[in-house]
Amino acid sequence: MSLNVSPASAPSATSTVSNKPSAARPIVLTGDRPTGPLHLGHYIGSLVSRVQLQDEASQFLLLADTQAMTDNVGRHQKVTENVVEVALDYLAVGIDPEKSTIFIQSQVTELYELSMHLLNLVSVSRLERNPTIKEEIRLRGFERDIPAGFLTYPVSQAADISAFKATLVPVGNDQLPMIEQTNELVRRFNNVVGKDVLVECKEVLSETGRLPGIDGKAKMSKSLGNSIALGASPAEIKQAVQRMYTDPNHLRVDDPGQVEGNVVFTFLDAFDPDRDAVAELKAHYTRGGLGDSVVKRRLEGILQEMLEPIRTRREQWQQERGEVLAILRRGTERARAAAAQTVSEVRGALGLNYF
Ligand code: TRP
Repeated sequence: MSLNVSPASAPSATSTVSNKPSAARPIVLTGDRPTGPLHLGHYIGSLVSRVQLQDEASQFLLLADTQAMTDNVGRHQKVTENVVEVALDYLAVGIDPEKSTIFIQSQVTELYELSMHLLNLVSVSRLERNPTIKEEIRLRGFERDIPAGFLTYPVSQAADISAFKATLVPVGNDQLPMIEQTNELVRRFNNVVGKDVLVECKEVLSETGRLPGIDGKAKMSKSLGNSIALGASPAEIKQAVQRMYTDPNHLRVDDPGQVEGNVVFTFLDAFDPDRDAVAELKAHYTRGGLGDSVVKRRLEGILQEMLEPIRTRREQWQQERGEVLAILRRGTERARAAAAQTVSEVRGALGLNYF
């Protein structure tokens, strides 16, 4: 993992940078399901690159509440309550609402319309073959009773992407089947109407690997209880580092320790800008004579320093809930205008412009 964490900029109400697409600016669309506040895994895996991308591209960031509802039936409140939480995380890390369009999926009703048309272009068996869906069906125990909305969410995701004619979609590995299905649908649609209305997209994969949980499990996740939230307090950060999985066989300071699979070192690789110091620590740890507590203290210092400004900005925005909602409203209006343009072309291509 390489570190490229630039400090986020302070909340700015009056940025002058335009987000109008131009021929030279690619259109980027990505987003998150609002099922909980975001954590360090999101930060290193996607948020840092979004902060960079907003200067180079016309970037749409979607709060995927409709998608989150597909596997949270009866828990819709958990979804709706977290929309603002995730927006706070975006703003706290330096997503600038003047540069990036942050919007709420459910409020862009054009997306439902586009989804409906795309649904005719995919078979149920193709939907069932999507590896991410297969895995999620298994994890959620849906085998015998798959909600139709869940099975078809990749089509809705294809609508999210193609409604904006996005060409770049920054996602994790698990989302590659969605990109593939999106492009199949785009080709199929264009083929059926005999006109290139929709645009194919490319994934942008994060260069950093996936951040493990503090327990050493492959994935950091709030629901697994092994995450460090972006808004974590100093005490929570300290406790998380103390609980971090190291080398279970490294019992005495003098024992040689193992660096591979040792979460503290994985985190240092991800967040410590001083590569030489990390290499030295690793060598020392491997030889023996370096205690876990010393390495943990270094990591804690780095995380405290990195998260302090994020937490402060998050708290500032939290006091401005009305302004956050206004940002989401403006973003959603911008997103609707863009999606409406594509949907009107889709209607035209299908002969649905009766009046
Ligand atoms: N499926 C994504 C996730 O689980 C969220 C998402 C919804 C998304 N629509 C999207 C991501 C469109 C990229 C593009 O995190």
